[in-house]
Order: sequence, then structure tokens, then C-alpha cells
Amino acid sequence: MRVRDKVVVVTGAAAGIGRAMALRFAAEGAAGVVVADLDEAGAVAVAKEIGERATAVRVDVSSEPEVAALAETPFGPVDLFCSNAGIIGGHGLDAPDQEWSRLYAVNVLAHVYAARAVIPSMVARGGGYLLNTCSAAGLISCPGDAPYAVTKAAAIAFAEWVAIHYASRGIKVSVLCPQGVRTGMLEQGLEEEHLTARAVAASGTILDPPDVAAAVVEGLEAERFHIFPHPEVADFVHRKA
Ligand code: NAI
Repeated sequence: MRVRDKVVVVTGAAAGIGRAMALRFAAEGAAGVVVADLDEAGAVAVAKEIGERATAVRVDVSSEPEVAALAETPFGPVDLFCSNAGIIGGHGLDAPDQEWSRLYAVNVLAHVYAARAVIPSMVARGGGYLLNTCSAAGLISCPGDAPYAVTKAAAIAFAEWVAIHYASRGIKVSVLCPQGVRTGMLEQGLEEEHLTARAVAASGTILDPPDVAAAVVEGLEAERFHIFPHPEVADFVHRKA
């Protein structure tokens, strides 16, 4: 799947990995990039950086009507929907139920809303692509919190479900599973002690968002289900399998 001439939506695109993907998709020649984020000013700045082939939308991905509205773009129907926004929060057994629910809404239900929003029209047009940003934390034991790891594992399971049930109708799904990327989330994780610097250092290479975006473009072109920007995660998962 090549991004050239495609209409792409990226959520969580005001910063970090989402911003890097939006910029990279534009550089690859996407027909239009919808830069969607809760942080409207950040989304507008990224869309400006891209130019006329981008538009900024304020969205809270935990709201189904707001995610559904992303399917209507000024560039035409969506070819590739990157459900990328995600949050950390809670800690271990002491994480309150509301925190589990908050993470579930953003890290899991947002992918369900995205699939509901775009799959029917993609099927009607003969196919389409979903890229869901999950995390290595959903696959292997990583430093971090229980609600984060559990919601990311659920997000991977949901993507597998969609891939199996819609493959015959032309829907391709990939899950992006990074581990340790220099973004606001990593900083927040260290500041709020969801992570320790030692655990992060021990978990392997720390990548920059453009490295992740490059792995995404390569993974989409190869139509891989798992996209592992960190080689040690791919090694670990393959050994475990
Ligand atoms: P980030 O915190 O730098 O950027 C996340 C963006 O999502 C922000 O612009 C934020 O405003 C937006 N966002 C948060 N809640 C939202 C909501 N309810 N609706 C719409 N937008 C919302 O984070 P980063 O690192 O770029 O994370 C992107 C994805 O990558 C997340 O799903 C995260 O879980 C995943 N990830 C990140 C890793 C890392 O080390 N940075 C490692 C593994 C996965």
C-alpha cells in the first residue's frame, strides 16, 4: 500500500509519532492529510507546516460522533485511517476504575469508532487500510503501568479481529507497536513515574518519531500486520512465537 495519492487521517497528529506520520505521509505525496487532535492549536500548526494538502480538525477520539465526523474529509473518502492518539495513566493495582475506563476509551474504543466510521465506505469502494498505533507494551513485558499494557493488548486483539473479519472485503489492518520513542508521552511517563529512566534505558533503543514514521511507510508498503520500528521488539516477539 503506497501512500502516494491517498487520503489519510491521522489522530493524535499534533505531536510525537502522529505528527511525524502526518508529515511523512505528506512528503510521500498523499492527496490529503487530515491532522486530527484534541490539541487544536497543535493540529493547526502541523497542517500549516504541510500546506494546502492538509487540514486540521479538533477531535476527542473517545467521542464516537467526533471520530465518525473524520470520515468526511475535504479531500474525498478516506483510504488510510491511522488511529494513533493514545494516553498513559494509572499505575498498578491502585489505579482507580475511572482511570482504567479513561484509558480504555482512548486506547481501545477510539479504534472501534474509527473502524465503524470508515469500514462501510471502504468496503463499498473495494477496500481500504487501517493503521492502529498500539504498543510493544501490549505484546511483551515492558516498563510501564497496568492499564496502559492491558488497553494496548486489547487494541492489538481488536485489530486482529478486524483483519480476520474484513480481509475478504478488502480491508487491510496493521498495528504499529513501538517501544520507547522520544515524545511528550515518554517525558510525561518519566515525570509522573509511570516509567523509570533505568527501565527505559534497559528496554532497548530509543527512537525519534521520524524513525517510526519511516518504519510505518515501509510496513504499509509491505502490508505487514505488525509494524515493529524497534528491532529488539520484533526479535523478542518472533522468539516468543
Ligand atoms: P504524544 O503524547 O507525544 O502525542 C499524542 C497526541 O495524542 C497528542 O498530540 C495529544 O494531544 C493527542 N491526544 C491525546 N488524547 C487524545 C484524544 N482523546 N483525542 C485526540 N487526540 C488525543 O504521544 P506519542 O508518543 O506520539 O504517542 C502516539 C501513540 O504511540 C500513542 O498511542 C502511544 O500509546 C503510542 N506509543 C508511544 C510510545 C512512546 O514511547 N512514545 C511507545 C509505544 C506506543
